[in-house]
Order: sequence, then structure tokens, then C-alpha cells
Amino acid sequence: MLAIRFLRSVSPPLKCVRRSYKTNVSAQNTLEIRNNVYQTDEWTNITPKILSYIGLNKHLQKNHPLSIIRQRIVNYFYRSYTNSRGNPLFSVHDKICPVVTVQQNFDNLLVPADHPSRAKSDCYYINKHYLLRAHTTAHQIELIKSGLDNFLAVGDVYRRDEIDSTHYPVFHQLDAVRLISQDKLFGNNLDLHIFESSYKVNPSSFSPINSSSKCIDQSKQPCHTLEAVKLTEHELKTILLGLAKDLFGNNIEHRWIDTYFPFTQPSWELEIYYKGNWMEVLGCGIMRHEILESCGVTNSIGYAFGLGLERLAMVLFDIPDIRLFWSNDTGFLHQFNESNLYKLNKYKPVSVYPQCKNDLSFWLPENQDIDSFSANDFYDIVRNVGGDIVEQISLVDKFKHPKTGKSSLCFRIVYRHMERTLTQAEVNEIHSKIAQSCVEQLEVTIR
Ligand code: DAH
Repeated sequence: MLAIRFLRSVSPPLKCVRRSYKTNVSAQNTLEIRNNVYQTDEWTNITPKILSYIGLNKHLQKNHPLSIIRQRIVNYFYRSYTNSRGNPLFSVHDKICPVVTVQQNFDNLLVPADHPSRAKSDCYYINKHYLLRAHTTAHQIELIKSGLDNFLAVGDVYRRDEIDSTHYPVFHQLDAVRLISQDKLFGNNLDLHIFESSYKVNPSSFSPINSSSKCIDQSKQPCHTLEAVKLTEHELKTILLGLAKDLFGNNIEHRWIDTYFPFTQPSWELEIYYKGNWMEVLGCGIMRHEILESCGVTNSIGYAFGLGLERLAMVLFDIPDIRLFWSNDTGFLHQFNESNLYKLNKYKPVSVYPQCKNDLSFWLPENQDIDSFSANDFYDIVRNVGGDIVEQISLVDKFKHPKTGKSSLCFRIVYRHMERTLTQAEVNEIHSKIAQSCVEQLEVTIR
């Protein structure tokens, strides 16, 4: 969930004026989000269900586990970096609107034009220029340009994804940036420099801002000196390991994995050993210097990282299902108390209600084959109609008829309410509404 798969204050209610699921939305259709009106177009794939999450701000809700994790991380940074008067160096930005431009989410961060994370099947687009941010990294450039050197950005992010106990189309991330200037990095030592001397003479000969350039050299960017990179890497890894220990205890086992993000080089993931498996907790790296230059920062080196709050909260509180973070049930919410952030109780399931499993089989339209079927479109329909009682969807069968050439798919939908027992009759009713929506929107034929 965390990596954007490169390897792989309550807001006003929002109004959805008119929209259509199908991609051929007519020109006069518009969407209103937080008092801004957007024209829909062939990129529009945001659904009313998804729009209803904007402004809920679970990361700011009192006594909510996501808010507790946010406060723990913010406090850790406040404590770890202070100025000479003892004031925190990092500022926190946790109420930024999740509507961003394609430029903010991708281009500014050097995400290549053909990168899969841009696909319509992976993001919620408002139209071809705007989307709901797929990561909080989208705010890096505007915050640096506003003059900040050290900041945390926290908020809801939106991705189209599979449906199971650890994936939800809306989740929360925290991103950080720290810029370090020559004197902060090397003090009075005038022999050491952030940039290679040849870079200063002819910066244009060093990897220009080019959205299709891939960073493959894990050791360092050509413009940086090895000593600047090593010192910054050391600071970054020390601070992040300190954060992991602050959250999970001093005895955790950890490892650093080399990875690739378009906006950092070198890049790493931190994994911790948890319940018998290595679990990725964050992505980080040395910021691409082109990004800093595009903000007018020419004399500093920067580090950045991003992490997902749900994943950390699931581990810290033993929360078994990501849908619980959206529960308004007092049996869930009353278990968390932020009055002592350092004494956290594990979650105790109130009770477990039974699952109902129903299969849905359909023929694809005559000229469509299985490979061109977008499972994420199907998942969105199921979510829109079924809501949070849908626990999981899995593809159980696919088949091409040898004579007619028509393709068929069969999905198993597992229904379970978090707070009560569902009757088979009510599940059947929802299940047939889902089937009806699939007929209307995907033009399939139910078998
Ligand atoms: N944006 C990345 C994601 O969603 C996480 C990330 C990785 C953020 C490296 C960063 C970073 O700021 O430097 O998976």
C-alpha cells in the first residue's frame, strides 16, 4: 500500500452535481468539490462514494487511531529537531485539500510520462488535469517554494486498488522533507562540499529535468559529492530507525532495502520484522536535485520520506481490517484514547459476525476480451453499491467460449458487516443491485 508502486478542521460537505460512470461523459457535465466546479471529461472516473470521503479527515479526529499515530510521529519530529531556542524545526501541514493537478502529483516529481502509477485504472481522476492525490508527496514542491526547509505533510490519499482487509481506496499518508545547507551539513569545514566542483561549472551537463529520465544508479546523483550523500543518508536512516523504535519498541528487527522512486536517488525502504514477516513501513531517499532546483533551492541537499498511517496503526493497535478505520461504531472508537499517546491499548474485537459469500458470473461484451477488462472499474461499482459491507472480492474463474469466442468472468464477493449479522436475504438484494449496475455500466450479460 505504501509505495506508489514505483517498483510498484472538518471541511464543508461537498456536493456532487452530476456525473456519469461511463467514460463518455457529455461536455456540460460538472463536478463540485469544496466549492470548486470542475468540468468532467473522458478521464473522469471518480465516484460519488469516493467523493463522500473528502473532508472526513480521520487523521484529525479526536481519539481516532490514525490521529494517535499522526501525533506520535509529529511529536517525535518536534523532539528530534529543535532550533537553538528549543522550538521545533518542522512545521506540520495536515489540512491541505486532496484535489491536486497532474503536474503536482506526477510531473513535478519527475514521474515518467509512461509510468503505470499515472494510469486511469490506478487513480481517481476528476478530469484530465485534476485528480485526488495518490500520495502526499504531491505537495512537496508548493511547500518548498513557500520557503519551508523542514516540514511534514499529512492527509488522505486516493488509489484504485483491490479489495481486501489491508486495501481501501482512501487511506492516509505522512510525507516529510528536510533540506540541509552546506554549513549545516559540514559546519566550518571548508574542504567539504555538497556539489561536485564540475557540477557548479556546468550544471546543464548533469541529468537535466526530464520526466522520462530514470534513476538507476543507487549510489548517488552525479551532482552530489559522496560525502554529502553519505552524511545525509546517515542522518535520514538514523532518524527513521529512531521513529520505528519509538513506535514499535527498541527490540525491533529491521532492514534497509534499495529501491527506486522517481523523486529520490538513492532510495530505500525500511522493513521491520513483524509476526513472522518482513513488513515495509516507509519509503525514503535523497531528493532529486532537479526538484530542488525547480523550487529555486540551489545550495542544499534534501532528504524525504513517506509512510502510510493505516499500516502502522494496524500493527500498533492490532486492528485486523482496514475498514474499521471508517467505523463510527462506539464499540470501536471508544477503545482508543489520546490522553496518553505512549500507553496504547490493543484493539479487542467486539465480536466477529459471519460472512456471506455470493458469486457473480457474467459474459463480457462481444468484442471485449479478458485482458482489456478493468477489474478496478468492477471494484468501484461493487463499492458504490455495496459500500463497506463488502469485505473482499476475488476472481474465481475466467473462461473463453470455444465456439462463440465470448469471454466470461466469475467473481466471488464476500460480504460481512463490521457491527452486526447480515441476513442472506439482504445480501441477495445488494448482490442483485450490483449485478444490475454491472449490466448498465460495463455492458456485461449476467450468466
Ligand atoms: N510517495 C511514495 C508512495 O506513495 C512514498 C515516498 C517515497 C515518499 C519516497 C517520499 C519519498 O517523500 O522520498 O509510495
